[in-house]
Amino acid sequence: MYETLDLARARAETPGVNHVVHLNNAGASLAPLPVLDVMTAYLRLEGRVGPYEAAERSEGAIGNAHAALASLLNCSRQEIAILDSATRAWGLAMSSLPLRAGDRVIISAVEYGSNYLSLLHLAQRLELSLEVAPVDANGVVDVAGLEAMLDERVGLIAMVHVPMHDALVNPVAGIGVVARRHGIPYLVDACQSVGQLPVDVAEIGCDLLVGTGRKFLRGPRGTGFLYVRQDIAHRLVPPLVGLDGVEWLAGTYRLAPGARRFETWETNAAARIGLGVAVDYALGWGIERTYGRMQRLAADLREELAGLPGVVLHDRGREQCGTIAMSFEGWGEFEVRNALKDAGINTWVCLENAACVDMQQRGLSTLLRVSPHYYNSEQELERFCSVLEDVLVGTRRERVFA
Ligand SMILES: Cc1ncc(COP(=O)(O)O)c(C=O)c1O
Repeated sequence: MYETLDLARARAETPGVNHVVHLNNAGASLAPLPVLDVMTAYLRLEGRVGPYEAAERSEGAIGNAHAALASLLNCSRQEIAILDSATRAWGLAMSSLPLRAGDRVIISAVEYGSNYLSLLHLAQRLELSLEVAPVDANGVVDVAGLEAMLDERVGLIAMVHVPMHDALVNPVAGIGVVARRHGIPYLVDACQSVGQLPVDVAEIGCDLLVGTGRKFLRGPRGTGFLYVRQDIAHRLVPPLVGLDGVEWLAGTYRLAPGARRFETWETNAAARIGLGVAVDYALGWGIERTYGRMQRLAADLREELAGLPGVVLHDRGREQCGTIAMSFEGWGEFEVRNALKDAGINTWVCLENAACVDMQQRGLSTLLRVSPHYYNSEQELERFCSVLEDVLVGTRRERVFA
């Protein structure tokens, strides 16, 4: 029984639940009505009065995204840059650091594929050494083991808070203590954690943090953001700049203070407004509260799945979040996903290239990922289990979630 949250309201405000059982929130969530309404109204305004003119009339709503993200992450709005993806934010942040040939970069094994690739790309050009932090028996970063790796040649610690293909939550605050003790720049990828569980940059003690809008924040696609700690911003040199990222000084320029230096002038105004509304909406529900429900839903689902013949669960972690990863005996992950899709249930297949270091180390090439959000109902999870059982063993059972 999940009585602490008004599920009926959450579902009434999520029109997509009338059409599909959406268990792919780690990919991209169903947006709530306030986000859908504000974005469609803004697009209509653009069509009526002109895009620049609509932006002039909507300065407050557009600017709200920075303020909302600052409240969410516990920082100032000057420390937030809004970009079109987290991959862009991560790449810009990493490329702006003063890394030199021979520097060592410590990453987590669960590094997201695109970020790993851009690091590999930079490492080849700059002759950096990429090294993977050790993990404990639960698959989470071993903080003491990581600290033992550090020396004066380490130019960056880059850690993933929650990976895209696993339930584990890395101890990012403990790693922050170590990074500060050694004076090493610290970048956190919070794409899967932001909106799902509390993310507080002061508590984590990071210099840089990236996130994305479309996943557990339930914002629009094509939105990402970068937090840049105020004291470090002046030392970062973005590899490219645009009109919003510099101050023009008649013949020369100065990089804008704070995170602003990472932004260019052009933006998808509708998406930026939608992102601000999505963050405010998430804060309105209370992240602790929605996370509590998600964790309980996921724990019940894992228990149920453990009893299904042919299901192999792969989740690790001391603290486990809402993401559930599995494979099947005798069935391909794509086959199962397609059968679920035909029954109106959205899940996702994670490929090895999206978490290449970890999946390769563990000999995994594909995983079916199921990622409920707080607005999913117990009945939806029952339906998922029934259809899955039907696919795997050809029978359906009645099952009741708590
Ligand atoms: C852990 C993690 N990091 C980074 C990203 C990249 O985010 P984006 O697609 O917004 O660039 C993702 C996307 O799935 C992710 O799961």
